[in-house]
Amino acid sequence: MTSPAGRADLASFTDYAAAVTAAVSAAGAYYGDGSTPLGDDDYDALVRAIEAWEQQHPDEVHPDSPTGKVAGGAAVGDVPHSVPMLSLENVFSDEELTHWAAGLERRLGRPVDGWCVEPKLDGLAVAARYQQGRLVQMLTRGDGLAGEDITHAADAVLGLPARLAEPLDVELRGEVLLTGDQFEAANEIRTAHGATPFAHPRSGAAGTLRAKDRPYRVELTFFAYGAVGFGDLGHSALLEALAALGANTAASTDAAPLRCASVEQVRQRIEEITAMRGSLPFGIDGVVVKADSAQDQQQAGSGSRAPRWAVARKLAAQHQVTRLLDVEWNVGRTGIIAPRAVLEPVVIDGVTVTYATLHNPADITRRDLMIGDLCFVLRAGDVIPRVEAPLADQRTGAEKPIVFPEVCPRCGDSIDASEQRWRCVRGRGCQAVASILYAAGRDQLDIEGLGRTRAVQLVDAGLVADMADLFTLDKARLLTLERMGEVSADNLLAAIETARGAALNRVFCALGVRGTGRTMSRRISAHFGSMAAIRAADAETLAAVDGIGTEKARMVVAELTELAPVLDKLIAAGVGTTVTEPAAAPAAVGEGEETGPLASKGVVVTGAMTGPLATLSRNEMNELIERAGGKASGSVSKRTALLVAGEKAGSKRAKAEELGIQILTPEEFADLVADYLP
Ligand code: IVH
Repeated sequence: MTSPAGRADLASFTDYAAAVTAAVSAAGAYYGDGSTPLGDDDYDALVRAIEAWEQQHPDEVHPDSPTGKVAGGAAVGDVPHSVPMLSLENVFSDEELTHWAAGLERRLGRPVDGWCVEPKLDGLAVAARYQQGRLVQMLTRGDGLAGEDITHAADAVLGLPARLAEPLDVELRGEVLLTGDQFEAANEIRTAHGATPFAHPRSGAAGTLRAKDRPYRVELTFFAYGAVGFGDLGHSALLEALAALGANTAASTDAAPLRCASVEQVRQRIEEITAMRGSLPFGIDGVVVKADSAQDQQQAGSGSRAPRWAVARKLAAQHQVTRLLDVEWNVGRTGIIAPRAVLEPVVIDGVTVTYATLHNPADITRRDLMIGDLCFVLRAGDVIPRVEAPLADQRTGAEKPIVFPEVCPRCGDSIDASEQRWRCVRGRGCQAVASILYAAGRDQLDIEGLGRTRAVQLVDAGLVADMADLFTLDKARLLTLERMGEVSADNLLAAIETARGAALNRVFCALGVRGTGRTMSRRISAHFGSMAAIRAADAETLAAVDGIGTEKARMVVAELTELAPVLDKLIAAGVGTTVTEPAAAPAAVGEGEETGPLASKGVVVTGAMTGPLATLSRNEMNELIERAGGKASGSVSKRTALLVAGEKAGSKRAKAEELGIQILTPEEFADLVADYLP
């Protein structure tokens, strides 16, 4: 990107002036329609560079400079605010936060009497005026002194009651945003009406609030975090009072505002909220720390831009803008043809992102993406990054349409484009070799001697079309294959025979049912107990399995229906009749049992296993944990009770230490679960 953003130092007045122009235009877009060619991190970096230059050249400060101005100097709206709508100072690290808190306490001449820590919601600030408890006007923040009247949009804002529980004259202040679900719904309805999808939930919220006379309705959500004309309540007491009046507050979410006694506790809560970020149903771009007591707030007072008693601990942006370089089409194991975006590498929250998911062709069309577009990329937590939308107004004319495949890129057969997700007409057949290799893998049927070459031979010779056919092979037919001698044939048949006795969960996992990995396969198998029962399952019975929601249950049923012929062949061949594994385990419990030495404990394994566990794959370790009553998980969190840390354990160990989680060596763990070892 050719913006001055990210540049640490501005070398000359020309650079400085260019940076001011870029920042003013970005702030205008941000506070105008919510769009911006700069990511939040870039904007913040730009403003900091401007500030640094101004400190060194105080006589040359540009009159348009965004520093020290509410809304970065962007002016919109003409309805005066009753009391200015201020912004927040930002801090970007724990050190800066500690420094800020110490400054506030110095100013007060005493320790702060409690902090309140809450999410910084990534939406738009609004003021909602009530008379006699009735909502009469809603305003944007505008430049902080005057805003735009957006009362017409109030009906569509959930959490902002038309009538309060009491007939008060009061002004609520808070953030209006699109939750993740609302964003998806908004884009669906927009595209159905031929409108371009919103690039980003915040621009969507801004656009929706300002739009009038749209032929469709887009719902938004309000979170109150302040009020004017509500007496001298401290912050947490105020939030409670606002909720009692019927307004939505962040108390309704997992990241509820929390009173903290010390800066150390504040830091911990910030960490907790940060850790939840990926799973919250709405975007946050930081955590707000406020002196909680009314007395501290009054005594600290406010500057022209921001209160002195509150600060935003900014988090790295999860959205960044980068260029879409290409689109690849990959055929999955089930024949799904999935587009994948190749991006100009961009760092999002410390991770370099080069690829991102594009979901499906309809999604590409809906988002109106083109090769060469600048686009928003979202990377939330550990999920796969995804391309959200292009910045269509940044187009140069050099962008090229994305070419959709006309035939299956893997086998050249036709494409079934009747569903949103395109599929090769051969379905799994397109990937017969890949499916068979997957089924034969170590964590599934573990059929030694069935590598790629053999799988290709078997498929090409028409001996095997799916994994169930493996169990019908005989020596005579195997010997017809090239380079297949007596010994190899015997060995392969013996390995297949062993696989016939594999536990049900492994056989089920080997089917590669979409939406079910190893853990889910174990749960489903333990729940139903036989392949026949699984085959007969409907969405309702499947939804009773821990971790399967209605949506996933429906998908699994569709998969099972498609796989019915394979399931029938497996049942006929007596494959998957072993339910628990291994039979020698004393408790011989299924998954979900809450007995055993690990009774319901969350256990994570990291690093290389040694001693009695040296030969176990990760999947076998997970099976061991679940046999011993525990819950295996891939990542360390507050719910983790135990970390098994082998050699070369890295970040998971560090995180467990930080959280004070018990850590065992593989040998110590083997002792603990000795009765359950395979
Ligand atoms: S308090 C006088 N609390 O962040 C107090 N603001 O960057 C000023 N915001 O303009 C605001 N979540 O739009 C406050 N929990 C929260 C917030 C929050 C989001 C927004 C708000 C504000 C902006 C400043």
